[in-house]
Amino acid sequence: MKVTLSVIKADIGSIGGHLKPSAMLFDRVRSFVGERAKGLLIDHYIGSAGDDIHILMTHTKGVDNEDVHKLAWDAFVAGTETAKIQGLYGAGQDLLKDAFSGNVRGLGPASAEMEIEERPNEPFLLFAADKTDPGAFNLPLYLSYSDPMFCPGLMLAPNMNKGFTYTIMDVSHTEGDRVIELNSPEDIYNIACLLRDNERFVVESIHSRNTGEQCVSVSTSRLHNIAGKYTGKDDPVLLARTQGYFPSTGEVLQPYQIGHFVGGFMRGSHVGPLMPLKLNTGTSFFDGPPLITGAAFCVQDGKLTEPVDLFEHPFWDHVRDNVSRKALDIRRQGFSGSAMLPFNELEYTGIVERLGVLDEKFKVR
Ligand code: F6R
Ligand code: MG
Ligand code: MG
Repeated sequence: MKVTLSVIKADIGSIGGHLKPSAMLFDRVRSFVGERAKGLLIDHYIGSAGDDIHILMTHTKGVDNEDVHKLAWDAFVAGTETAKIQGLYGAGQDLLKDAFSGNVRGLGPASAEMEIEERPNEPFLLFAADKTDPGAFNLPLYLSYSDPMFCPGLMLAPNMNKGFTYTIMDVSHTEGDRVIELNSPEDIYNIACLLRDNERFVVESIHSRNTGEQCVSVSTSRLHNIAGKYTGKDDPVLLARTQGYFPSTGEVLQPYQIGHFVGGFMRGSHVGPLMPLKLNTGTSFFDGPPLITGAAFCVQDGKLTEPVDLFEHPFWDHVRDNVSRKALDIRRQGFSGSAMLPFNELEYTGIVERLGVLDEKFKVR
């Protein structure tokens, strides 16, 4: 059966600063989607990561479907009303436009979607990250789909022997989607040249070269390109089908033990290690650390199983300890050098304005 997996997320308000949506907001979004799902969705699941809430939906309407996107948009509008009633911080933060038109792209919420021909058994993963941007997935996606050190299936599984095709987007280009397709393994040096730059080049999707099927979809919106100003980091979501002729769930997970340094953290303007956390965890230290949550599902005829928490296992406690140490290390150097993002990636205008004033006071000797 052909099924579409759609995940749409937004920050529509949270408790105590940019920490975590309230239970009431969560319930409002859940009941809204539940009421409107009839005739449109087969199944759905609602979760949160940091201060963001996401709606996973299964249906047969294909990607970018207006009705499905409108349902998510309306649910976020309803959630925003609750956020306002409760006085939550940043109520409606990511709803950048007043009215819905067509699909959520360009309106603030982020989406990742895949239309798939369901296999007889269809495991897939939903990752949601906060206090970072879609480039946070670049390294894990390079390692799990191109590096046999992380994905032994590339060597061991004959049905993965042809490798994978990456579709990579230049997110600095605002007049339309500027994308390139590159094949792994032949193009891995070119893929690496692009993916090293997390703030500019972002993996949008990955397809198997053995079957032609899509296995990864990433949200690639850049909020500050849409709004022309800081509106919160882009806090991406990712869907990945696993097993068989795709990397296994464990191979997809392995890179997250690195706790690699990504852009985001406090005021979306710093660099911090990506911490794998349990489902529905909020934000904390220095408005971070940048975090990722993961839920595993199986889907059949569009019906979802309950989620399994990918980072609940005690193994990840050890990783979290290591990542905490990395976060403390980089925070010791405050604003200096690589602890803060480069000038054109700063999400607030204060430094830019100060430098503008100082610029006029400079003298050339
Ligand atoms: C980062 C983030 C927070 C805020 C910070 C200040 O993505 O959301 O670090 O930038 O808490 O928030 P405002 O400007 O809303 O007071
Ligand atoms: Mg927020
Ligand atoms: Mg967020």
